[in-house]
Amino acid sequence: MLLGGMQGMERVLHSDVRAPYVTMVTGPPGSMKSSFCMTLLSNHLTRTGEFGLYCTVEESADSLLRGTASMGLKVPNNLQLTDFTELRRENENMDYLKFTRRMIEHFKQQHGERFTTFVLDSLGAIYSLTSVDEVMRKKMFGFFDFLRSMNLNVFIITERNVGSHAELQGNEGFLADAVINLGMDQRNGKLIRTLQIEKMRHCRHAMEKMAIDVGPGGMVILGPLFD
Ligand SMILES: Nc1ncnc2c1ncn2[C@@H]1O[C@H](COP(=O)(O)OP(=O)(O)O)[C@@H](O)[C@H]1O
Ligand SMILES: [Mg+2]
Repeated sequence: MLLGGMQGMERVLHSDVRAPYVTMVTGPPGSMKSSFCMTLLSNHLTRTGEFGLYCTVEESADSLLRGTASMGLKVPNNLQLTDFTELRRENENMDYLKFTRRMIEHFKQQHGERFTTFVLDSLGAIYSLTSVDEVMRKKMFGFFDFLRSMNLNVFIITERNVGSHAELQGNEGFLADAVINLGMDQRNGKLIRTLQIEKMRHCRHAMEKMAIDVGPGGMVILGPLFD
């Protein structure tokens, strides 16, 4: 799913991953985490005809679509976008994880094995709506288990600032099969966008930081970044 989803991914991965697989996509604001996931899903779903669900909590679906269109990407019909930003305003005591679970179950019933990919954008936005305590951590553990039981390729977006660990609020870093970090680097007075695999179970992968850019079909991986 990763290899067919982005141009240049073969420079990073030697083999593809197989569901159930949970990948955390981390990086500071503006590092193109949403764009990365939208590129992967749009390309993969267009190519395979599978069904995917993108759940946006942070940014409205409209805004996300505008960004996607600006990269020259066409969102296929088999990519369902669910906007949680409205719910956010209304329900203070809402259990977002439970709600997300129900939604995934619903689409699994509707599409069966054709439903292969799921994005949560973002974990931080869910955390900002609830109190993060032991109970929440246990729930999150259960949620990851549930995602695996649904046999999905999952991408969880989490914000992270330079230098801090992927564990973030709890133990998500350990729960994930893969951690992909997006960022920006200074090179000759210019900011360059980067991607680096920090962890990827079951797969041989490049360890170098890669330069990334936006091409006609969304995000592309250019190659290793040299000092
Ligand atoms: N068409 C485009 N071409 C190149 N870069 C773009 C394009 N559209 C947006 N960007 C860059 O992407 C950034 C936003 O990416 P986004 O995926 O929303 O980041 P994140 O989800 O990590 O906050 C913008 O700040 C801008 O620099
Ligand atoms: Mg985003």
